[in-house]
Amino acid sequence: MQIRDVPKVFDTTKRANIDDPLNRYIKDTPDGGKPSGARTAAGRAVMYLSYSNEAHEKISWTINHGESYLRLGDPLHKKSRLARVVERVVGVLLVGLLTAEQKKRHGEFLRKLRAALEELFGDELERMVELTSIATAPERQGRGYASALVHIVTDLADARGVDSWVVSSNTANRGFYGSFGYKLARTIYLGGDDPTWEKPPVAVDIMVRKPKSMREK
Ligand SMILES: CC(C)(COP(=O)(O)OP(=O)(O)OC[C@H]1O[C@@H](n2cnc3c(N)ncnc32)[C@H](O)[C@@H]1OP(=O)(O)O)[C@@H](O)C(=O)NCCC(=O)NCCS
Repeated sequence: MQIRDVPKVFDTTKRANIDDPLNRYIKDTPDGGKPSGARTAAGRAVMYLSYSNEAHEKISWTINHGESYLRLGDPLHKKSRLARVVERVVGVLLVGLLTAEQKKRHGEFLRKLRAALEELFGDELERMVELTSIATAPERQGRGYASALVHIVTDLADARGVDSWVVSSNTANRGFYGSFGYKLARTIYLGGDDPTWEKPPVAVDIMVRKPKSMREK
């Protein structure tokens, strides 16, 4: 991914995730409503900063300069000090742009995710490769773009002989991840105890893939 890909990556991920169940759960709060122009512009600026940081750190890949995008979580990647600072600032700003109810839901997601990861993997998580984020622009889906990008993660995990994992915010993607050998490890449910969420609890999957040896490939 190059710095010049950033606007297209922003556009791709935004449009691909518009109906994402986790995204909807966090954003569709009674105090949410339509964000103001200033809030939208601020959100875009923060995400541009975040994607630029990824491009600089070389931890993300694109196809056709952003029609498809993948971010890798590599525990062996040593981030520069500047990148760590930018990441922290981005995290604080993104949460700062959320309303009170959105912050509560985001906090619920992180709390449940951390507890599940700890229980499932413990210290092993520090060695596992993560497929952190993936999206293809809606009008470019079904052309094999995301599959080509997923192999960056699975090839690295296979070369190291470690498991890889993904948090799938959409259970509709089980088949997609399953085709690369990811298996469902745990589903966490959000919103069950939230009186402001009137729909059924939102399911978020944690999927894990065992490494393949060269002989199996
Ligand atoms: C999931 C996503 C990244 C796949 O991108 P893509 O570029 O269309 O994927 P590919 O073209 O490589 O698809 C590869 C195969 O998976 C299938 N596939 C794609 N999405 C699928 C899904 N949700 N469920 C089952 N199969 C799926 C394709 O039909 C294709 O099958 P084929 O090889 O038999 O034709 C894309 O649908 C997307 O951006 N979705 C919205 C964002 C999202 O859900 N991101 C992941 C959050 S966890």
